[in-house]
Amino acid sequence: MGNDRSQALKQIREEVQNLKESPLYQERVNNQTLPVIGEGSHNAQLMFIGEAPGRNEAKTGRPFCGSAGKILDDLLTSIGVKREAVYITNIVKDRPPSNRDPLPEEIAIYGPFLDRQIDIIKPLVIVTLGRFSMSYIMEKQNLQDSLQPISELHGQVLESKSNSPVKVAVMYHPAAAIYNPKIKKVLHNDFQILPSLIK
Ligand code: URA
Repeated sequence: MGNDRSQALKQIREEVQNLKESPLYQERVNNQTLPVIGEGSHNAQLMFIGEAPGRNEAKTGRPFCGSAGKILDDLLTSIGVKREAVYITNIVKDRPPSNRDPLPEEIAIYGPFLDRQIDIIKPLVIVTLGRFSMSYIMEKQNLQDSLQPISELHGQVLESKSNSPVKVAVMYHPAAAIYNPKIKKVLHNDFQILPSLIK
């Protein structure tokens, strides 16, 4: 089973590497950067979904390895969960220029790869990081009727209304905490719910 998952995730990696029809593909080639597919346990109970790679991520091919990643690492440590035990990815797999917000057409082209990653890993809990991830996942999980601004929904856990039994835990994006100690504290508090949701 583990091997099937690895094989299916490898297939996704190859497809994204060759995704010439993406509006961000040429950018990747011009800047000699890497797509960021995702990393972590293929049997993860917790799956963290960010927005899109930043500069450090596109340089290394690893999700959340820059300053937002440092905050995510600290948050994981605070709940006693090892980074290797979770799976970490983004909706958009290539870096939008100058870290701008992802465009709807970028979310549309990369979203199906994320959907497949979720289907393969089958986490117990999808942890959305930031408002783009929150909106994307809530729509996919038939929770669009419960959508509210992230300032209202952060820290809440919703039960999917799709056919697959998964919980959605809504969190602020760790990057929002870099220069904002209040958000950092809120994120820290919100994360404390996660251990109770896994086995
Ligand atoms: N921000 C994201 O949304 N994802 C990353 O991988 C890094 C920063």
